Amino acid sequence: MNFIGLLQCLVTFVITLSWNGQVVTNGQDVVGNPQPKIIGGEQAILGDFPWQGMFLQRTSPSQASLVCGCSLIATRWVLTAAHCTIDRQSSDILVRFGTVDKYNPESSAKEYKIERICQHPEYDPNTLLNDISLLRVADNVQYSSYIQPIPLPNQGAQVPVNTTCTITGWGSISAQIQILPDYLMEAEVPVISNDQCSQWYLSTMATTQLCAGYKEGGIDTCQGDSGGPMACPTAPSGGQYILQGITSYGRGCAQAFSPGVYTRVSEYVTWIEVTTGSANRLFGTNKVLASVCLVVYTLLHLSNNAAF
Ligand code: ARG
Repeated sequence: MNFIGLLQCLVTFVITLSWNGQVVTNGQDVVGNPQPKIIGGEQAILGDFPWQGMFLQRTSPSQASLVCGCSLIATRWVLTAAHCTIDRQSSDILVRFGTVDKYNPESSAKEYKIERICQHPEYDPNTLLNDISLLRVADNVQYSSYIQPIPLPNQGAQVPVNTTCTITGWGSISAQIQILPDYLMEAEVPVISNDQCSQWYLSTMATTQLCAGYKEGGIDTCQGDSGGPMACPTAPSGGQYILQGITSYGRGCAQAFSPGVYTRVSEYVTWIEVTTGSANRLFGTNKVLASVCLVVYTLLHLSNNAAF
């Protein structure tokens, strides 16, 4: 093996050793506690939604602007909407966690680069079906009291109609004109059946979509909240938050008979596991390969240099 071979060995070895990224499904290590407390919402308290991230687009080497929301689901994986990642390059995206203040990040804030965008292969920009993307973070996200992943539901486990879920984001706080808040906002919305939602929208909601909001409007996500989480408690009385929705679209914002439409996460858990897992396995195999590679190289090198 030549010098280039050794170099390749070393590089794969170092890259693969740094891998660590299990997805949490119904995991325990989540700090956020459902608290009854966007449009019609209120300011969120730092640490209450430790999975909430800012999806930033680099505008210059030192500046970045908020495009969407996102959710931390594992040490190396972030979930967002496909309409947030379309036509963007991973090198232009940053994610920030552990903060509610948009302009003056708290000391708990951490920013990470993105090394790969895994957009759902069947995302349709016309129908907005399969509005879901995974972002692979370039580094392990450091968990703290302010930064924690949110567990995913089990594949196919539907969130019951009327469950009160919490929506969060830095999107517009006004339906008429765009007014962006300085702080993360939160609000509560009940889950609406797909039948009811289809009637109000005069078009059929897919089983992969989830509607939430009020018949009379008033409380809703809006422009800028997209890609962010809709977190629902596991039991009516509270309990652990699970990521059930990804903010996708709506007819205006907070209008009557126009609830927010979210990507139904429980329909994509298998896709998420396969997508994150194949990267996991690939890197796992590489780890073994890289070690074997190094050992073989060392042996060859030793035998070549042995003086007989
Ligand atoms: N598409 C919007 C965005 O990019 C989210 C809109 C949500 N609208 C609603 N009425 N719930 O931020």
